[in-house]
Amino acid sequence: MQINPTVNQAINKQIGMEFSAYLQYLTISTHFDVEGLTELAAFFKAQAEDERDHAERFINHVVAFNGKLEIPTINAPSSDVTSIVEAAELSLDWEMKVTDAINSLLKLSAEEEDHITENFLAWFLDEQLEELSTMNKLLKVARRAGANELAVEEFMVRQRGKQPDTTNPDA
Ligand SMILES: [Fe+2]
Ligand SMILES: [Fe+2]
Repeated sequence: MQINPTVNQAINKQIGMEFSAYLQYLTISTHFDVEGLTELAAFFKAQAEDERDHAERFINHVVAFNGKLEIPTINAPSSDVTSIVEAAELSLDWEMKVTDAINSLLKLSAEEEDHITENFLAWFLDEQLEELSTMNKLLKVARRAGANELAVEEFMVRQRGKQPDTTNPDA
């Protein structure tokens, strides 16, 4: 069984978007790392890894479906982000664009009667909702903190405390 070529093409485009997000979040993470804001650096590094995972999930789908992987040209990420508010705004904008793209991909899969891809995309809808909510929260906190960047760092520590520790298998 082979993937519908139109859907395959749209997935390749989506893979480009995911890698583009990976590079953008990596750039933001590096900026905060240089600034000594290590919690924000770690947060954006984790976001970057998530994006790479998304790209790999799409690539695995292409493989499972006997498709053809054609990664498009990836535009350079913006390196102009200098504040937490800017980083959060850019990320939220980006996640809204990706959500639109996933919705369009879902619509296309339905039109092309590719129900396997439709089903595969359901996970991404949940993931997008989670990422939109995370970035929205970060933006609100960053706006409230204003020039007090360390308040955002403290917020990040508290947020991390709420997450189950997946780095230590014995925990
Ligand atoms: Fe993604
Ligand atoms: Fe994302």
